[in-house]
Amino acid sequence: MKEGQKKLTALLKLAKPIAYVILLLFTYTLGYLSSPPTPSPSPPSSSAVPSLLQLPNLPTQLDHFRVTTHCADPVPSQLVRQTILDLVFNSTSPFINFPPPHVTKLLRAKRVKGWGSNGAVFEHLIKKVKPRTIIEVGTFLGASAIHMVNLTRMLNLQTQILCVDDFRGWPGFQDRFKDMKMINGDVLLMYQFMQNIASANATESVLPIPFSSGSVLDKLCTWGVFGDLIEVDAGHDFNSAWSDINRAYRILRPGGVLFGHDYFTAADNRGVKRAVTLFAKVYGLKIKLDGQHWVIYSA
Ligand SMILES: C[S@@+](CC[C@H](N)C(=O)[O-])C[C@H]1O[C@@H](n2cnc3c(N)ncnc32)[C@H](O)[C@@H]1O
Repeated sequence: MKEGQKKLTALLKLAKPIAYVILLLFTYTLGYLSSPPTPSPSPPSSSAVPSLLQLPNLPTQLDHFRVTTHCADPVPSQLVRQTILDLVFNSTSPFINFPPPHVTKLLRAKRVKGWGSNGAVFEHLIKKVKPRTIIEVGTFLGASAIHMVNLTRMLNLQTQILCVDDFRGWPGFQDRFKDMKMINGDVLLMYQFMQNIASANATESVLPIPFSSGSVLDKLCTWGVFGDLIEVDAGHDFNSAWSDINRAYRILRPGGVLFGHDYFTAADNRGVKRAVTLFAKVYGLKIKLDGQHWVIYSA
């Protein structure tokens, strides 16, 4: 074989692996470029879209996202339950004559399921804060609420727990909860939650507030209902978490603690973690971590 031919054959042998390497590098570059930007204090390059934190006129830009509802003076802790009964339930406990006959057969005596609902963070914070009012934003079947009831009992605290949830779950949640019944499109989540609270003998220390988190948190602020401990665990996308955290912080008593789930779980890094990080940065607060939970102490 001639020298020229030999070189050509050797080159052709090399071509295949080189093509693989080029393809690999190309795919990696594409993936890198399409990954979400991480906030960084350095100024954006002129061609990149700046992140919220990088905007030069940050305070002005963030004004659009600020919650500005004016909160009333705080209602004393011992009046919180009656205030909610009066303003949400026509002064009558929703647990009276519960369950209504048309759902009795559709409920289970107890059907509880939660996520990180028994985490050590609950005990740490309840022992530390000794809360008179706890506001839970995102309750589902009441797993974490019941855990908090048990802890406050253990510590002999007179605590009222307000459970904010639209009690709709999320679209398609029944795929994972096939045993839960539906009547005319109502997934009976609030009734099953109430049944769970009744089974835990906790109807005097827990109240559901069955509306969307944004509207409830704004109302609690205008009614002067503040929490010593507020758990945020409702919508996990950035916008929901950002809105809930901002609204919840307004109704946190001085010395109180705001906390929430999914700082580390697979459910996040897209929504909750970014919202908590941005919130803490904007308000100059420290984020503490406790298991899968994030914790922020009031300033
Ligand atoms: C992860 S679950 C809460 C679990 C509960 N904290 C536990 O650990 O037992 C989330 C709940 O948030 C509620 N939720 C989601 N978005 C909401 C919104 N915008 N307003 C009110 N509730 C909402 C859902 O109905 C669902 O019950």
